[in-house]
Amino acid sequence: MTIFLRLVALTSLMISLNVCIADYRLIAGKEPILPIPNVKITNQKKVDLGKKLFHDVRLSANNTFSCATCHSLENAGVDHLKVAVGILGRKGLRNTPTVYNSSLHFRQFWDGRVKSLEEQAAMPITNPLEMGSTWKQVLAKLSKDKDYKKAFSALYDAGVNKENILDAIAEFERTLLTPNSPFDLYLKGDKTAVNEATKKGYHLFKSYGCSSCHQGVAVGANLYEKLGVVIHYKPHDIDPDPGRFKQTMIDEHRHEFKVPSLRNIELTAPYLHDGSIGTLEEVVSLMGKYQLGRVIPSDDISSIVLFLKSLTALPLK
Ligand code: HEC
Ligand code: HEC
Repeated sequence: MTIFLRLVALTSLMISLNVCIADYRLIAGKEPILPIPNVKITNQKKVDLGKKLFHDVRLSANNTFSCATCHSLENAGVDHLKVAVGILGRKGLRNTPTVYNSSLHFRQFWDGRVKSLEEQAAMPITNPLEMGSTWKQVLAKLSKDKDYKKAFSALYDAGVNKENILDAIAEFERTLLTPNSPFDLYLKGDKTAVNEATKKGYHLFKSYGCSSCHQGVAVGANLYEKLGVVIHYKPHDIDPDPGRFKQTMIDEHRHEFKVPSLRNIELTAPYLHDGSIGTLEEVVSLMGKYQLGRVIPSDDISSIVLFLKSLTALPLK
């Protein structure tokens, strides 16, 4: 009953304010995209320690690579390479995704093979194509550092160990949120935060069906999908990367990936898991063709790209 009365009150408020249907949907919480919450810091010292570790090249075998080498925080959290290049010039298989907002993803990595940021952070450190180190080496190096010893023992009973290193890095990564993009301000009620052309792009994003996959707070990163759901994606015939199949060995999962987040997408080219697509226009057209079976006219592509750009809100921008 109370809910019903509240709805009646809300509806009459909408009518009296002459709110248009689109904005009514926003207020009623029916939009497929949710604004990013503000950063909540519970332990600044842990965040500071995690930030230092994130930038520390001693996590790599030959002291040349930190997490930030590939995920440059001044560079939208990416390296702009087609696929990542690790220590000794070793080439990886996949494009480097951004670390911004990754705490909002339902799982980590293109194929979602790990769930938590803590588990994720352990992997590049010992990956021979990335930082190529061992925990023995890392712990030996960091334990020799007086500042680390002090910082760790102030925060953790067990001092410098693997679990605590990963805990601090993940705590830092959880602060890498980018709230208040123009589009989020619009979602939160500022109707002038984006222009009419951007609103049109958003409308098209929904009406073409992009938001059936790219949705939620990260505008993606909450489900798996195959590239080529409607039309077979030919490059997959020679693509050495079978996506989720590599983990599950279930045939249906071949070429399935986590639907990527589109937050700050303007700044993270090149696109797709293999970095094979250079521009947003190309990738939007490709999505239309292979994911939706539609040829999207170039005017509509421009509008959608305009909407995608309104999702940009890096702290440094
Ligand atoms: C050599 C470059 C390189 C280094 C160094 C590196 N990463 Fe990554 N990172 C990548 C690539 C490539 C992927 C995607 C790999 C995949 O999906 O299989 C990735 C994925 C991630 C993800 C998942 C993001 C998402 O959208 O799923 C996070 C979080 C992350 N890295 C954090 C870190 C942290 C923390 C460190 C340091 C401990 C680090 N990375 C070191 C290249 C790198
Ligand atoms: C059926 C689900 C689905 C639909 C519908 C869909 N996408 Fe995607 N999108 C994906 C998947 C999966 C990927 C990653 C594919 C890969 O890397 O192999 C992706 C990748 C992208 C990327 C590149 C992201 C990056 O970080 O490289 C953009 C941009 C994008 N989609 C925009 C759109 C737009 C715009 C539409 C509507 C025209 C759309 N998508 C429709 C599933 C979908």
